[in-house]
Amino acid sequence: MRRKPCKRPCPTYFKISLSKGCALNQPLQHITVLLNEAVDALLGNDPSAAHGTYVDGTFGRGGHSRLILSRLSPQGQLIAFDKDPLAIAEAGRIQDARFSIRHQGFRNISELPDASADGILMDLGVSSPQIDQADRGFSFRFDGPLDMRMDTTGAKAWPSGWQMPSAADHGCHP
Ligand SMILES: C[S@@+](CC[C@H](N)C(=O)[O-])C[C@H]1O[C@@H](n2cnc3c(N)ncnc32)[C@H](O)[C@@H]1O
Repeated sequence: MRRKPCKRPCPTYFKISLSKGCALNQPLQHITVLLNEAVDALLGNDPSAAHGTYVDGTFGRGGHSRLILSRLSPQGQLIAFDKDPLAIAEAGRIQDARFSIRHQGFRNISELPDASADGILMDLGVSSPQIDQADRGFSFRFDGPLDMRMDTTGAKAWPSGWQMPSAADHGCHP
């Protein structure tokens, strides 16, 4: 099956060559999970909810954030967090005075100047762009260094050159 080319070019999406039959050198598309369902649950049915202040604790590629912004009134506000610098770069593409992004873990949420929010959305885990890029160390499909940092600007958790022990190291021989 061929992947459809991404219609929204984005430098933070990675071009990888997959095996024959799959799309070659096409930017991978990030599809937000439970997009409408999560935002419906966050904002509810009350029209006054659109004037509130909301937090997206895991911005990722901003699927949820963009939909939230599209449903907020001019008085609404959205504050987003992410640890990943590529997520922060993607957030820089959103030019909207109601939106701000913080390059921090969501545990800093209580340090917001006005630490009250009408709703908080958390889409926990890794994002598909993190898994698709071998050198992030999250992929099961591609070999790469064992990095696994959400925030690649911070210190490495593993000594460089550290390898996953192979099955053979444990005396397991297929
Ligand atoms: C599943 S993705 C979110 C996808 C996002 N909802 C979207 O629509 O694109 C999870 C994101 O959480 C971020 N993340 C993981 N741990 C975090 C933490 N402690 N604080 C803030 N962000 C974190 C990851 O960097 C990743 O971008």
